[in-house]
Amino acid sequence: MKLRILTRNEIDREIADIFIDVVNNKPGSILGLATGSSPLGVYKNLVNAFKEGKVSFKNVKSFNLDEYVGLDGNHDQSYRYFMNTNLFNHIDIDKNNTNVPNGLGNVELNAKQYDKMIEAAGGIDLQILGIGSNGHIAFNEPGTSFNSLTHIVELTQQTRNDNARFFASINEVPTHAITMGLASIMKAKKIVLIATGANKAQAIKTLMDDEPNVELPASILRRHKDCTIFVDQEAASLLKK
Ligand code: F6R
Repeated sequence: MKLRILTRNEIDREIADIFIDVVNNKPGSILGLATGSSPLGVYKNLVNAFKEGKVSFKNVKSFNLDEYVGLDGNHDQSYRYFMNTNLFNHIDIDKNNTNVPNGLGNVELNAKQYDKMIEAAGGIDLQILGIGSNGHIAFNEPGTSFNSLTHIVELTQQTRNDNARFFASINEVPTHAITMGLASIMKAKKIVLIATGANKAQAIKTLMDDEPNVELPASILRRHKDCTIFVDQEAASLLKK
């Protein structure tokens, strides 16, 4: 696992360049995508690069990490909606080739099929991740098995309270989510993780200092052979100089 300490803008540019290289080298790349604030700058750079003719996503397939159970893709808090509005609507990717876990219908079955769909597509070439302040990646909270595949999780009261501001009331915040598991994420050929801001500093310190431990889900990444952690000064503030 490599660590890069850069400014926010540098992180966004460098990771966008990694995406562009991967796609230009293999136009039919399989991309693993995330939602949240961490990847937003990267997605903006990718939209700009597409508009400038530097990259085409025409033959790319994508798989997102997670989705709320019970929200359809038109709900403005669904992760499908996030991906459409922040990336897919602005590039030439075929929406039929974009996958976000399906949080509607038989969600247990949807979860079971998701890893098979990724495998059938050839596996993820490049996965982007954010990290929670408690070290979660995707919706894999502390304690999640390192062997986990795509599965349904019950959201903690803390997560539901944190997200309540985006919904009309706490009652509308979903109680469950469907998420790729830690073993699913580890199958990606290349992984980049973004952590910015002081509230990620403790998670980054534990990630860099300690051995892999299920109490910090992201620590499984130490076992990946091509994973780079991109942090800004604030997220790096607790690391030994
Ligand atoms: C998003 C996801 C989450 C976020 C994490 C960090 O698809 O799976 O694990 O990456 O919660 O969120 P931000 O980037 O908003 O700080």
